[in-house]
Amino acid sequence: MSLPIFVNTLTLPQNILDLLKDQCTLHLWQGEDSDAALLNTVAGFLVYGHPKIDAAIMDRIPNLRVISNFGVGVDHINVVDARARGIAVGNTPNLLNGAVADMAFALMLAAARNVVFGDRFARGPEFTHYDPSINLGLDVQGTTLGIVGLGKIGQAIARRGKAFDMPILYHNRTRNPQAEAELGATYATLPELLQKADYVVLITPLTPETYHIIGREQLRMMKPSAILVNIARGGVVDHDALLQALQEKWIHAAAIDVTEPEPLPRNHPLLQLDNLVITPHLGSAALQTRQKMAERTVNNLLAGMRGEALLSQVV
Ligand code: 8YV
Repeated sequence: MSLPIFVNTLTLPQNILDLLKDQCTLHLWQGEDSDAALLNTVAGFLVYGHPKIDAAIMDRIPNLRVISNFGVGVDHINVVDARARGIAVGNTPNLLNGAVADMAFALMLAAARNVVFGDRFARGPEFTHYDPSINLGLDVQGTTLGIVGLGKIGQAIARRGKAFDMPILYHNRTRNPQAEAELGATYATLPELLQKADYVVLITPLTPETYHIIGREQLRMMKPSAILVNIARGGVVDHDALLQALQEKWIHAAAIDVTEPEPLPRNHPLLQLDNLVITPHLGSAALQTRQKMAERTVNNLLAGMRGEALLSQVV
């Protein structure tokens, strides 16, 4: 039997479509325009990308049992309202820890070692002879790594930092003595971390508490030689403050995978800066990881529609 589900986009990747094809019939969520008879029959909503899913949507689908999110962060889904309505919310934790940690390092290395500039230069007309004095970057190995958010992804970043011989500072809502022992990471207040770290990597969920935790005051605390990496959510950083910090060289550079809004308007001044490396939300965008995420998303969806516990359940 093919069960009707809502999706927020029909342009899902083939691996998700393949997993759904014999089990579900996809209906594009059309808000007010959704077919009234359908609204009563749908028990599952597969969420792809980061569309806002709020109480108004939940209330229009009276028999909704599960919202299954492709990805770990659920800041775009009102989980409190879902819980209040007995709707399960599923996500894809752990499967993407390594891929996101790899990307954090890709961004650090790219910004520190001028990978993007170097690529353009190597292709351009100015590269006529090799000159060892051009395009000097900053060392990564042996410098101090500051991680804001020591969840599972933060810990995977710390393990990579260890392999780069980096002393590790972390800041987290709660201290994690086990991770401190295992990773040799040292707890720091946010100001301490910002003052001491050469690389500050943000990997904290976006919540009302973490919204704009990096603003002018915090950027002012960082070393002029420091690099800020945001692999969390755009909303964690005040973009006006970041723009000023990069323009006025309060910090050396930033490398961001996420923005607020996403994407930035094409004429946003951040996009003009040479001391910014930016990628289009590629954190988990690796084929093998995305396959596992697709499987977990569909698995969560089907379990929830059957009224069973999800393999990865937020609420
Ligand atoms: C995206 C992510 O969800 O898991 C997360 O929270 O930010 C990413 O993995 C994924 O790219 C789908 O939008």
